[in-house]
Amino acid sequence: METIADIGRNARTGGYRRDAWSSADLELREWFRGAAAARRLDLDEDRNGNLWAWWGSPTVPGVVTGSHLDSVRDGGAFDGPLGVVSAFQAVDALRARGFRPARPLGIVCFTDEEGARFGVPCVGSRLLTGVMPAERARGLTDDDGNRLEEVLAAQGRSPAALGRDEETLGRIGMFVELHVEQGRALAVPVGVASAIWPHGRWRLDFRGRADHAGTTALSDRDDPMPAYASAVLRARELAERLGVLATFGKVRVEPGNANAIPSLVAAWLDARGPEEAKVRRLVDELTQDTDVICESWTPEVAFDVPLRDRLAGLLGAPVLPTGAGHDAGILASAGVPSAMIFVRNPTGVSHSPAEFAEPADCEAGVAALATVLEDLCRA
Ligand code: GLV
Ligand code: MN
Ligand code: MN
Repeated sequence: METIADIGRNARTGGYRRDAWSSADLELREWFRGAAAARRLDLDEDRNGNLWAWWGSPTVPGVVTGSHLDSVRDGGAFDGPLGVVSAFQAVDALRARGFRPARPLGIVCFTDEEGARFGVPCVGSRLLTGVMPAERARGLTDDDGNRLEEVLAAQGRSPAALGRDEETLGRIGMFVELHVEQGRALAVPVGVASAIWPHGRWRLDFRGRADHAGTTALSDRDDPMPAYASAVLRARELAERLGVLATFGKVRVEPGNANAIPSLVAAWLDARGPEEAKVRRLVDELTQDTDVICESWTPEVAFDVPLRDRLAGLLGAPVLPTGAGHDAGILASAGVPSAMIFVRNPTGVSHSPAEFAEPADCEAGVAALATVLEDLCRA
């Protein structure tokens, strides 16, 4: 964790800005290659930009662990990197005790898990599994208008090669992602995930007419800002009533003059909850009279029960659900037996520079992951 601590760190906020395919992300990808090489693991980048480091030739389906290295804007040090770093550490621990896996063991770094730049989360695993059509991914744009296909081409990747990748999928017999827990639900060092809440992102466009802030009478205005402000308050009310979560964390005002009525307020709603019907109800009620597009939707994921119970039994760990999205959820939905190990988060803070996990709990996470990999790779 220390070797990557400075990569993409914003000196002012102390948070990480590791957008997919940014210079920070490219540096982290190089770090991953180096970590694989230092351990003589075979490095492969798949057609969708995900990185794989294999211990043993992946000629039969293997056991895969890992996570992601990109971050939300001003994210913490742990969300993603903890799972990748722990994977390399677990391999070191297994080797130190002379273990030789009976099946291939892979470490993956999924590309663009957070969707901070192009809006859609888990792009790498969605493309790999075919959950997201390649055509849609190629056309995703960042806030500066760069299309993902242009960004990939500029990095020497082939946008035409994006899409469901049977060969890579065939190498994943099962997937175990270690991740920092993102709430205060875990009171012991490690836990095992039961499920991921259904969740999605929607873009709401409130349109109006640009005009002068000093000369336009209130009665003459077509100002989209009050409608947006009402939607924020209404989302909060609905969320409380329905027992779900609703967040507006990103908003863009056009043209963005302090002395002009805006022509557009574009706002991004993130909504999640334990019950899909209630999340959908919130979005439907909130957006009745608004231009809205769904940018991503992930139905509830229930992790493979035998695998979950095997991990919980091996580790003597509690089982808990989460409201955070993960690549493990995308793989699970695509039929790959998947599980997650959570490392305690003492404050519950995440997607923030203040995200933290105790070093001793991180060590316990590595030990737990090594125990699990040893068991799963025995036969
Ligand atoms: C990913 O961290 C998400 O839950 O949005
Ligand atoms: Mn995250
Ligand atoms: Mn994450």
